[in-house]
Amino acid sequence: MTSVNSVRSVRSVNDVALTVQQTARPTGFPTSDHFRFVESPVPRPAPGTALVENLYWSVDPYHREMMDGDFVLNAPLEGRALGRIVASREPSLPEGEIVFHRQGWRTHAVVRPDEVRRLPHHEGVPLSAYLSVLGGTGLTAYVGLTRIARLREGEDLFVSGAAGAVGTATARFARLLGAGRLVGSAGSAEKVRYLREHVGYDEAFDYRTGPVADLLDKAAPTGIDVFVDNVGGDHLGAAIGALRERGRVVRVGTISQYNTPDAPPVVFNHADVVEKRLRIEGFLVSDHRDVQDELYEFAVPRLLDGTLESDETIVDGFERIVEAFLLMLRGGNTGKILVRK
Ligand SMILES: NC(=O)c1ccc[n+]([C@@H]2O[C@H](COP(=O)([O-])OP(=O)(O)OC[C@H]3O[C@@H](n4cnc5c(N)ncnc54)[C@H](OP(=O)(O)O)[C@@H]3O)[C@@H](O)[C@H]2O)c1
Repeated sequence: MTSVNSVRSVRSVNDVALTVQQTARPTGFPTSDHFRFVESPVPRPAPGTALVENLYWSVDPYHREMMDGDFVLNAPLEGRALGRIVASREPSLPEGEIVFHRQGWRTHAVVRPDEVRRLPHHEGVPLSAYLSVLGGTGLTAYVGLTRIARLREGEDLFVSGAAGAVGTATARFARLLGAGRLVGSAGSAEKVRYLREHVGYDEAFDYRTGPVADLLDKAAPTGIDVFVDNVGGDHLGAAIGALRERGRVVRVGTISQYNTPDAPPVVFNHADVVEKRLRIEGFLVSDHRDVQDELYEFAVPRLLDGTLESDETIVDGFERIVEAFLLMLRGGNTGKILVRK
């Protein structure tokens, strides 16, 4: 087994499998030096398993959290992927079938039946959608709105991280569920324009241009009913101030802290929570897998008739997977970032 550190020098030929490994723990933002590509012969499936050639990989903010401890150094990493079964020694995993599994960050995976999920066949739905608006991203947005916020028609929403994967799906679903005014925040003027012109946000602001509380006050002068929070920090403090009575905070993620563990604690008026009878609730999408079929029922017909779009940034070539991950942490994506073979 040989390994190379430079992404550019990685060979990508059919008889060689590539696996990404983490080599060191980062402090602050990771770099490509925290990873390496390892070459090995393409594995052969043992009895009861099948060989999957991966086609799409998801890189996610939670991978940054895992880099601090859960990812074992110098070992294959966990990640969501879609691939085609190219050799099988297991009758329930026929060659040619496309499956979802969690052995991402590598070109090939050997899987057992209990390690894969077969994808439903929805004619006309692109494969990438099963890792974006129909996958964990879409499920997070859908559960956040329907189970945690319990959104009612006409209610006004504020979404942080609005131009990202969960943020775009949240707005598109919220609109279809009958939400009132949609306000979003993102990290550039270009993203703000995208939110207004393509995603359906009524108002949006660049959180880097001033104190979030002031920007939110201007964007939602009469307040909000629901805050879907992908970011934490200042956004959370500002939104608690802007929420109306019986408002809800849906705590999805805290990406403002993943690369800055020493970030100061969130400052907000604790009395607001009581006086306005607010509910602040976090959740993990992994606890809501039972909602997956409902998401398909909700989203697939709308994807097919064009009333729902999937926002995606596609990076081509497995050898760019580390680059794609680092790009996402710096805000280089719009919608769900995916790597395509
Ligand atoms: N609870 C769950 O089960 C669950 C499931 C999925 C995701 N999540 C969480 O949801 C959040 C969004 O995940 P995603 O997959 O949709 O990723 P994403 O939003 O597509 O990508 C991350 C985005 O975060 C933004 N960002 C980076 N640093 C930031 C900072 N300091 N302050 C504000 N924004 C920052 C960047 O956009 P800008 O250019 O706008 O800064 C970047 O595009 C993450 O916190 C993630 O951990 C939770």
